[in-house]
Amino acid sequence: METEVDVTIDLEEEILKLKKKLNAVILAHFYQESEIQDMADFVGDSLELARRARDTDADVIVFAGVHFMAETAKILNPEKKVLIPDLEAGCSLAESCPAPAFKKFREEHPDHIAITYINCTAEVKALSDIICTSSNAEKIINQIPPDKPILFSPDKNLGKYLIKKTGRDMLLWEGTCIVHETFSERKIIDLQIQHPDAKLIAHPECEEAVLKHADFIGSTSKLLRFVQEDDANKFIVATESGILHQMKKAAPHKTFIAAPPEEESCSCNECPYMKLNTMEKLYLCMKNKEPEVIVDPEIAKKALVPIKKMLEMS
Ligand code: 13P
Ligand code: SF4
Repeated sequence: METEVDVTIDLEEEILKLKKKLNAVILAHFYQESEIQDMADFVGDSLELARRARDTDADVIVFAGVHFMAETAKILNPEKKVLIPDLEAGCSLAESCPAPAFKKFREEHPDHIAITYINCTAEVKALSDIICTSSNAEKIINQIPPDKPILFSPDKNLGKYLIKKTGRDMLLWEGTCIVHETFSERKIIDLQIQHPDAKLIAHPECEEAVLKHADFIGSTSKLLRFVQEDDANKFIVATESGILHQMKKAAPHKTFIAAPPEEESCSCNECPYMKLNTMEKLYLCMKNKEPEVIVDPEIAKKALVPIKKMLEMS
């Protein structure tokens, strides 16, 4: 197994060669570093990536994203090999919701339907009724009969936003995203004063204090579409800063300002899990055909049901 990358090789060229050799597809999330996004066959949000994973005819899926995303790709393709550059690329939301505690939560509310954000483990998906992403959550909730009570897990900020949007009173799990909860309302307001012509756009994982100032709220792909279609030329972007790469590519004449975190010195608007993946690790995982994402077949079978339901309902 190769563990060191020869510094003289052209990483991009070698990755392309390996892609051909493995008959692989590279799927990347918008929060990956720019070089990885530029190498990928497809860059998208959680829902688009799940759809691409479902529809690919490649033999190997190389998933440049976090573990729950690669796990979803594996559940949709149990016969394919799914590789991830760094197996430790987790997610604070998935970590906030351990399967035994979630099982108990469900047992305490047996009459509730469980709609669960895709940012969770395969075990939690297997215990859920319907999976959703920030792209389709509102649409899915609106299809649930009004008299059916709902448990929404694990992101309480997204949950609160959806309660407001849909008017449905849902019981929320108390999870948060460590990146989206660091944006500072005070500093965003300062920026709005400095740039009165800028529109504030935000991911619904942000806290209510930030969302209430936003001109537009949406998933990563909806934010990307908005900056292309809207008349404004300047945007303050309250989500992980990796998305700015695609925004600058799609609208090079517009200005994008990354929303600042509370702590001056930290890069808290970068997801530390997403950023574990590097070009070197992408090359090594394809060269070594590992780390591979493995899901227990019994869990995968159960988790596939609410994932399929999501794909049908969105
Ligand atoms: P999207 O589905 O909007 O890409 O969000 C994924 C995510 O992890 C946000 O933090
Ligand atoms: Fe998870 Fe937040 Fe990172 Fe998205 S940005 S993967 S929700 S920790």
